[in-house]
Amino acid sequence: MKINSSNSLLTVPTGPLKISDLPPKRVGTSSKSTHLSLIIPTYKERDNINNVVRILSQLLDESIPGHYELIVVDDDSPDRTWEIAQSLTAKYPQLRVMRRQRERGLSSAVIRGWQAASGSVLGVIDGDLQHPPEVLMQLLRSVEEGADLAVASRHLDGGGVSRWSIVRRFLSRGAQMLGLVILPGVLGRVSDPMSGYFLVRRSAIAGATLNPVGYKILLEVIGRGKVDQLAEVGYVFCERKRGESKVTWKQYIDYIHHLVRLRLSTGRVGRLSKKVNFPIGRFLRFGLVGFSGVFVDMAVLYLLSDPSTLAWLLIPSKIIAGEIAILNNFFWNDAWTFADVSTRQQEWHQRLKRFLKFNAICLAGLLLNVLILNLVFNFIIPNRYIANLIAIAIATIWNFWMNFKLSWRVTDVK
Ligand code: GDD
Ligand code: MN
Repeated sequence: MKINSSNSLLTVPTGPLKISDLPPKRVGTSSKSTHLSLIIPTYKERDNINNVVRILSQLLDESIPGHYELIVVDDDSPDRTWEIAQSLTAKYPQLRVMRRQRERGLSSAVIRGWQAASGSVLGVIDGDLQHPPEVLMQLLRSVEEGADLAVASRHLDGGGVSRWSIVRRFLSRGAQMLGLVILPGVLGRVSDPMSGYFLVRRSAIAGATLNPVGYKILLEVIGRGKVDQLAEVGYVFCERKRGESKVTWKQYIDYIHHLVRLRLSTGRVGRLSKKVNFPIGRFLRFGLVGFSGVFVDMAVLYLLSDPSTLAWLLIPSKIIAGEIAILNNFFWNDAWTFADVSTRQQEWHQRLKRFLKFNAICLAGLLLNVLILNLVFNFIIPNRYIANLIAIAIATIWNFWMNFKLSWRVTDVK
């Protein structure tokens, strides 16, 4: 097959997920500036891609001929959706195709598409025809009338979900309520924060580094962008006719993770954590892991020393329980709290080194704990429980900070 420049695949952008201010200049293309760049993320949509592209092209050719581009971003689908899409470029000159072979996931697919886009208005629509294409023109009009962000919403007049089960409706609303509690400033602004069908002005998100976690890219746009004027258009989420949904339980976990991350990095909390330069998110994870260690410690202590189980002596039992709790905590901190650092240092001797350091720091933390308890109890607050709480808090900060600086330090200096 001969590939000329007009139907070759787009290069996948690398580096941080940041949208640039000025559209990248394309040499050798027509001088018509692109107004709208619409991303169609796809994974195993071979039965839909043709129809989506045909319907969208027809619509846009009527209203803004030549002033748009459709960008299919496919994650190397095993059904070769990208190949079919690429073969369509001959018929639809405004169509571009990106095939991602390294990165995965809906959100980052959309952002990579935007990075390769040249429009001043950026958008996204599902590639399975569940988002009615006609609504696109209403969204575009809203932006032209001044909106920074125009969202298609299922929860407005004229909107809805066609034949969703009670369970799916319940989960969807539950997720929205949870979001309203954790991130009222973001989710409170739109009636359908889960929507994956919207247009945004490039200027509203240029410069912000977006996060790839999860399915719900709209949360990122509202949370990190500069969205002053917001418009919503009602739509009915159609039934899928071909292919299948990729939503799994993992998406719900990702969603909660995403909410917490946004909460910690934006708004007042985010500004505070930047100002004091303290990694609040990491610290909370570290604290949660420490909390899990308490249960491990208790359980092992029970198994070893309870009269109804092994009935060992208390002191050796506690030493073993404590050490197993430390192992538990190390495992989770390595896999979660400091995952970004540990994935870069995966050799077993590097892991062992981290574990030994972690152990030593935690032991020193224990000594510190006892020392502070004594000091506070004897000289400052003569209440052993309050004194113990203070001691635990200081020891936790010590453990965190020392491990942050010494155990999970980035040492791969070239
Ligand atoms: N590139 C890429 N990579 N595309 C993906 C991936 C991925 O990992 N996962 C899903 N997609 C594409 C699908 O091919 C489809 O075009 C679109 O993203 C939505 O995926 P579905 O699996 O069909 O999701 P849904 O039907 O449950 O829709 C829900 O999520 C949408 C996206 O956020 C609803 O909440 C919609 O309102 C929302 O638009
Ligand atoms: Mn779908």
